[in-house]
Amino acid sequence: MTDLSRPVHRPPERERVNATSAESMQGPVPETSVPCPTETHMKSYDSFTTLVSAEREHRANYKTMVSAIMPRPIAFVSTISADGVHNLAPFSFFNGVGANPPAVMFAPCTKSDGTEKDTVNNLRAVGQCVVNVVPYDIREAMNQTSFAYPPEVDEFEVGRFTPLPSRYVKPMRVAESPVQMECKLIQIVRVGEGPLAANVCICEVLCFHMADGFLLEDETVDVTKIDLVGRLGGSDYSTIRDRFALPKPRSAGPGTSQMER
Ligand SMILES: Cc1cc2nc3c(=O)[nH]c(=O)nc-3n(C[C@H](O)[C@H](O)[C@H](O)COP(=O)(O)O)c2cc1C
Repeated sequence: MTDLSRPVHRPPERERVNATSAESMQGPVPETSVPCPTETHMKSYDSFTTLVSAEREHRANYKTMVSAIMPRPIAFVSTISADGVHNLAPFSFFNGVGANPPAVMFAPCTKSDGTEKDTVNNLRAVGQCVVNVVPYDIREAMNQTSFAYPPEVDEFEVGRFTPLPSRYVKPMRVAESPVQMECKLIQIVRVGEGPLAANVCICEVLCFHMADGFLLEDETVDVTKIDLVGRLGGSDYSTIRDRFALPKPRSAGPGTSQMER
C-alpha cells in the first residue's frame, strides 16, 4: 500500500531518460507528476532456517515445495491409452510457458514405487492430451479422479464427467470444464530418477474451447464467472474470488538508479 503521508516521489533526470527507453517498448509514457509508488511497508527478513534438499527425504522436499509454491493452477488432463481407455487426472505442477506456439507444461511425478502414472504412459503412447481448467463446482469430482485407479479404469466414469469429442486430438474434452485446450505433446523432460522424479510434459495448445458466456469481447476469460480453484499445500485449495489490480509500470521505478551503479 502507498503511504500518502510521504512526500511525492519525482523521478530525477536520470530516471526520466530510462522512461524514454521504456516508451519504445510500451508506447508513449505520459509526462505527469504522478508519484512513483514506493512500498513503505516492505519488510525484510534477517533470520532464516535453511533446509538443504540433499539432506532431506524426497517426500519432505515435496511437502515444503507445495506449501511454498502456491497457489498453483490445476490442469485437469485427459489422455487416452493405446488400447483406447480414457484417463483423467489433475496436476498442479502446471503452467503456461509461452505463446509462440501457445504451450503449457504439467509434471506428473513418478509414483512411490518408481513407476509412471497413466497420464505419462498415455502421452508417450499417443502424444496428445486435453488440458481442462477446474472451476469450483467440479472440485470434488476432480479430486476423486486423483485416486490411483488401474489403467483400465475410465476416469470420466469415476467422476461422472461428460466426455466431448475433440477436434484435433483423440483424448476427450471434459464438458463440465468451461475452458478446454486440445494439445499435442512437444517433449517430455525427465528430471531425476526414482520416486517423485518429474516428467515435465511440454505441450502445444492446438485450440482453446471456451464455453459460451465465459469469453469476453477481447477474447480473454471472464475471471469472476469462471471461478477457478488453485491448489495450496496438503488438502488446501484456494479460489480467485478475492483479487486486486496492479497495473503495469509505465516508467522506470525509484530503485533504478541504485541498480545501475
Ligand atoms: C489438485 C491435485 C493436483 C495434483 N497435482 C499433481 C502433480 O502436479 N503431479 C503429480 O504427479 N501428481 C499430482 N496429483 C496426483 C495425481 O492426480 C494422481 O497421482 C493421479 O492418480 C494420477 O493419475 P494417472 O495415473 O491416471 O495419471 C495431484 C492431485 C490433485 C488432487
